Amino acid sequence: MLSTQENAIIIEDLKKSFKNLEVLKGVDLTVRRGNILALLGPNGAGKTTIIRILSTLLHPDNGNVFVNGFDIKTQPQEVRRSIGLTGQFADVDEYLTGLENLLMMGKLYHLSRSVITRRTEELLKKFDLTEAARRPVKTYSGGMRRKLDLAASLIAYPPIVFLDEPTSSLDPRSRLNVWETIKKLLNDGVTVLLTTQHLEEADFLADTIAVINDGRIIAEDTPGRLKSRVGKERLELVIKRQDDFERAVTVITGNDLSHNSAEKTVSLAIENGVNEIQGVLNQLAESGIEVDTLTLRKPTLDDVFMHFTGLKPDEGRNEAA
Ligand SMILES: Nc1ncnc2c1ncn2[C@@H]1O[C@H](COP(=O)(O)OP(=O)(O)OP(=O)(O)O)[C@@H](O)[C@H]1O
Ligand SMILES: [Mg+2]
Repeated sequence: MLSTQENAIIIEDLKKSFKNLEVLKGVDLTVRRGNILALLGPNGAGKTTIIRILSTLLHPDNGNVFVNGFDIKTQPQEVRRSIGLTGQFADVDEYLTGLENLLMMGKLYHLSRSVITRRTEELLKKFDLTEAARRPVKTYSGGMRRKLDLAASLIAYPPIVFLDEPTSSLDPRSRLNVWETIKKLLNDGVTVLLTTQHLEEADFLADTIAVINDGRIIAEDTPGRLKSRVGKERLELVIKRQDDFERAVTVITGNDLSHNSAEKTVSLAIENGVNEIQGVLNQLAESGIEVDTLTLRKPTLDDVFMHFTGLKPDEGRNEAA
């Protein structure tokens, strides 16, 4: 029996079908209190379905689910009081200001006026929205909306937060900003379950990554271990001249080397970051070999899938009907 004291979320053998479509086929997952777990999976894998079941918005067909120690089947009210939910699409009122959105959420939760005022100020400050607080949300950038949405879900001090693809459709800079915001939740001891399609996001944020494909968890590990199981970063070089290419192959030393003469490419695994890349470039420069392009390829969700399923990412998926 798993302890609800240690684990903020416990999911055992969770199953859910929509008509003939088996979406969740027996999911087991636990999230320790104060941890961030990232549920990593492609479109249609069942991520939002899990979040909706955990939030009591959808009934499961089978399984035991405990959130903050409460059974979603018999104690839905207590579950709802324990959670904050940020959906896949920012869910704030465009015509109200940021401040008004937060005040409204506070009232929905029946918080007292003084608590609402204090909490609103605190959240605006924490998420760097104080200056924009009196502007209508329709003037906010995508990243600011996401942060406001996140702030709104935290208004009633929930110990557990669900974030469904918190940075989808954000540009890289806003994404980083929202990531930093999410990281701050950890300082308050909040437990976070987030979903994402990006290995990089899961890697940056999570203590544990659970990979979901076709309604099942196919791998669960720390980001570091998961990445090393899937594959290292690779440096790919295109050599400028064909006769240099032959020499480059003999000059470059490194792990897991491969080359392609027709494309004049050399690729190798990078295990020690920038120093190692610098070393390779120095070897080439000393031999007077010019490089045309240089790419550092990080493992992606696609690589995770290839590794754990043996399938290409678009094969064998439970596509939306
Ligand atoms: N209410 C519903 N009725 C019928 N089918 C549904 C319903 N909700 C979800 N599905 C189907 O269940 C599967 C999983 O959907 P879900 O939204 O959980 O995926 P997801 O992992 O969140 O995907 P995405 O990354 O695109 O958000 C999909 O095939 C979807 O079409
Ligand atoms: Mg989804």
